[in-house]
Amino acid sequence: MKQRNPPGRNCPGLSRRAFLGATLGGAALGLIPPAPAAARPSGASGHLATAGELFRDYTGRLCYNENPLGPSPLAMTAMADSIPMGHRYTDWYAESLRSDLATLHSVGSNQIIAGCGATEILRLCALAFADPAGNVVSPYPSYSQFPSDAGFLGASVRYADLDANYAVDLSAMAAQVDANTTVLILTNPNNPTGPVLGASEISAFIDALPAHVAVIIDEAYHEYIQDAGYASAMEDVRQGRKVVVIRTFSKVFGLAGVRIGYAVGHQDLISAVRSWQTYGTVSRPAMDAARAALGDSQHITDTVTLCNQAKQYCFDELDLMGLDYIPSETNFFMVDVDNGAWVRSELANAGILVRQGWGMPQHIRVSTGTMQEMEDFITELQNILAAMARGEPGLPRITSLDGNQPNPFRGATSIGFGLAHSGRVRLEVFSIEGRRLRTLIDGPVEAGRHTLRWDGRDTQGHPVGAGSYFYRLIAGDVRETRRMIRL
Ligand SMILES: Cc1ncc(COP(=O)(O)O)c(C=O)c1O
Repeated sequence: MKQRNPPGRNCPGLSRRAFLGATLGGAALGLIPPAPAAARPSGASGHLATAGELFRDYTGRLCYNENPLGPSPLAMTAMADSIPMGHRYTDWYAESLRSDLATLHSVGSNQIIAGCGATEILRLCALAFADPAGNVVSPYPSYSQFPSDAGFLGASVRYADLDANYAVDLSAMAAQVDANTTVLILTNPNNPTGPVLGASEISAFIDALPAHVAVIIDEAYHEYIQDAGYASAMEDVRQGRKVVVIRTFSKVFGLAGVRIGYAVGHQDLISAVRSWQTYGTVSRPAMDAARAALGDSQHITDTVTLCNQAKQYCFDELDLMGLDYIPSETNFFMVDVDNGAWVRSELANAGILVRQGWGMPQHIRVSTGTMQEMEDFITELQNILAAMARGEPGLPRITSLDGNQPNPFRGATSIGFGLAHSGRVRLEVFSIEGRRLRTLIDGPVEAGRHTLRWDGRDTQGHPVGAGSYFYRLIAGDVRETRRMIRL
């Protein structure tokens, strides 16, 4: 376990420039609030859409496992109530929330850390436990942040494949552990696939690991689990095992945009993690929202009920369509559609955003939404698969402009299009008021599929802010315009 270096000493394997680069990446991710429009050079980016204006754009957003019901109403009131205290510093380390969580989980406050989303906690865990001279073990495919952070910090990452049911394979993970393993992570239930591991399997697995290996269990989707054989690894923490359990308020509590998460763990591990944290990463509105949301059992029940209903509806429909899906204990599921990239792109054209990747080319991952969103998803999927069966999709289409999805994790937006015939193409990006910000292509383009990234800058090189934008493709006599959201 690594403790934070004393001031003035270099962190092994991590140059200041590399660290700043990674941190400043937050700006590209849209996590740093844009400067007020008035402060921008004139003509740079103009109007920045507010959350209220963006609200309508989120329909069909089945790609980030968010809560379609919105935040807990009690959390919204708590956030509103916190506004008059905006001029006062908040708890330095979210002490009020940690005290509530200590009671909830029957542990000491010193066994809890709260942060700016599970994302911050995972980064802190990588700083505390990933060692450039050692390795970390993670399942694959699984939530990639921790192994990416650990790799970025110089550790080597050893991946263990999932089992035949797409569940985390504990024996495959154990086989990756060696004398240089400093930390092992697993996500339970697994994201992106959805299966859950039982309580006793995990406890026995931890007990069999060498004592020098710290264990992180990411339980971001804990509240959605229906499997009676499951129990949270919080019990392992209470029994004194060397475990850190991560939770988030982004999922069932509906606070993804508010940014708050926490971890509960063995006191030694938590104090190593906390030594890397700066104070005040949890704002007062976030902390108050989280405290209120914890007590909003009605909102939790409504959310889980809707999620189960949405999954059941989709699974029944997918059964009728003869499509294989992976049973899931989360608010998302994967379905085998044969050509995941194509179906994802066609769904996006219809305004339904799902995800695809993770070395699973036949699958798409679909987050549960409102019942209306699920019905729209099924209807569009049927249309797309019917068109595929008729041999219509692919390049024979005149032109297809992929309804793209914003990807705040990469900080750049990719725009894909397919051309049936070579010819002159013009692809431009516009502000929501219709002002042209950038011409991305203006010239001859070969037939075929093309993808390009917009770096989020206008013609003068100024970054544009979060908000709604349009891009327009003109190819021959075909003109298509699509909306995109930059977060
Ligand atoms: C398994 C898992 N861990 C962590 C996170 C990040 O959570 P947060 O929004 O709290 O940063 C996610 C988000 O999708 C996730 O799926």
